[in-house]
Parts: sequence; structure tokens; C-alpha cells
Amino acid sequence: MKHLLSLEKLPRADFETILRAAKIFKRTRGAHKTQPLKGQTWALMFSKSSTRTRVSFEVGIRELGGNALFLNANDIQLGRGEPIQDTARVIGRMAHGAIIRTFAQSDVETFAEFSKIPTINALTDDEHPCQVLTDIFTFEEMRGSIKNKIITFVGDGACNMPVSWIFAAAKLNFELRIAAPKAFQPDAKILKRAGGKVIVTEDLPAAAKGADMLYTDVWVSMGKEAEAAKRIKILGGYQINAALVKLAKKDALVMHCLPAYRGKEIDAATFEAHADTIFTQAENRLHTQKAILNWAVS
Ligand code: CP
Ligand code: NVA
Repeated sequence: MKHLLSLEKLPRADFETILRAAKIFKRTRGAHKTQPLKGQTWALMFSKSSTRTRVSFEVGIRELGGNALFLNANDIQLGRGEPIQDTARVIGRMAHGAIIRTFAQSDVETFAEFSKIPTINALTDDEHPCQVLTDIFTFEEMRGSIKNKIITFVGDGACNMPVSWIFAAAKLNFELRIAAPKAFQPDAKILKRAGGKVIVTEDLPAAAKGADMLYTDVWVSMGKEAEAAKRIKILGGYQINAALVKLAKKDALVMHCLPAYRGKEIDAATFEAHADTIFTQAENRLHTQKAILNWAVS
């Protein structure tokens, strides 16, 4: 039984196990040899909106033989203030695993501790580990090993996505460049803890030069809506567009974890030019979730 709470704590060998399994689950969709969740019910407890993560986990659980129970955090007593420790002890006695999307990272950690069932972080303010595992799987599917490659993240360098990328970089030995304005650069403590080759800069063209992949995420993450105007002003310019793509390697990939806001973090033409990659990336959430679930119960 394992938890996926943060990429910081995921051993390198487990990264490799999940990435290998995702490839097999993709190839064998509709004819999986094993049903590792047979007879199990997994609870999805979400305090924030979701399309990809929710659908990929619900479909993935069913295709691995299990049942998915979606719980909007506002519909259960948690939303009225029941402590996470008590919610965890209840769900832990009924469900076989939990997938949680919430605000505080400490909540998924507390849930895992008290529920004693495999617990998966489906996005917190601090990290989005399932997304980065999918992104790496997608990169390797299209371009081979990510080792020694250059990945450039553009935009809000302090949110959950870049943080999960930072922890992955040291584990899988690729160069990560984060192009972000000073106010939205990652916490120095995280960079120090993670190690690896991570370059943080305000110089967007320099960060894009020679990159194997340009990656972006929304400027206004869930929970930050009150800061929208300020963020759009400060982050304006940190956009993936044709001029930026020209600076990267000739065959550079462009990825976006989605949802995308055209004209903000990416322009419409660049988004459409790379839509095949971006929606393969979205589809790969399903195959990677299965690999994560299979790993969590083994
Ligand atoms: N990328 C991602 O996690 O999408 P959702 O918010 O739709 O789940
Ligand atoms: N940083 C974004 C990711 C969405 C998948 C958010 O937290 O809203």
C-alpha cells in the first residue's frame, strides 16, 4: 500500500515503475490482463473543480475493476467543518483508497495518516504530482528519455505545477528552466530541498532558447481568483507564442496541463498548432492514473 502525496517523496525507481506501467496500460486499453482494483471502492474527495483528473480517475478505476465514489467536499460534512482526521477515519473504514483535490497539502498528508488507505494527491496548492507524471510519460512517448533534455516552464513559477516539475527534475536528471517574473518565482527553500539542475529566470527568451519542450499553466490557479487582475498584469508577456517557439529546438514540444486561457499564458494559434500534443497529454492522464492506482495497491 502506497500514497502519492508529493513527487518530492516519490523514489526514482517508483517514477520508472509508474511510467513503464502507463505505457502498458495505454497499449492494452480494453484488454487489461489484471484487475488490480477488483471489488474495491475508491473515494474521490474534491474541493476544487476538475475535468481531466476526475474523469481520468473515475474511468481508470472502473477499467481496473473498481468502483468510483465521487464526493464533492461541499456535499459532505467536511465542507461544514468536520475535521479532516475524522473524515479520514470514516472513509478509511469504508473505502479502499482515496483521491483528494484540495487546497492545503497538509490535508492530504493528514488524510493519508488517519485513513490508512492508499491516498493520492489529485492537486493541492503545493503540488500536482499526477499531472507531471503524465507530462513526463507524454514527453517520453513522443521524444524518448527525458534525461538530459531541457524543459522550460513559462508563467506562474510559484504554483503547484512548477513545484512538481522541480521535484521531478532532480530525480530524472533533466534541466528545468522556469521563466517567471520575480513575484511568481518558486520558493528558494523548495529549490534547495529539491536540488537538480533548475534555472529560475525573468529572461523568457533565454529560458526558451534550445528547449526540448515549452510548458505552461494558467496564470490564475484555483483559489487565487481574487488576485486575477494583479496576476494578469504581472504575468502579462510570459506567454507561449510563435515568437517564443521559434527560439526553442526545431522539433520542440509545446504542452499545457489545461484548462487553457487563450491570449493569456498561450496564444490561440500556438495552442491550435500544438493541439495534438496537448490533447494526447490530456488523454494520457487516463493511462497514467491507472499506472498510479496499480502502483498504489501493490
Ligand atoms: N490538468 C488538470 O488537472 O485538469 P483538471 O483541473 O480538469 O482536472
Ligand atoms: N495551477 C493550476 C493547475 C490546474 C490543473 C491550478 O491549481 O488551478
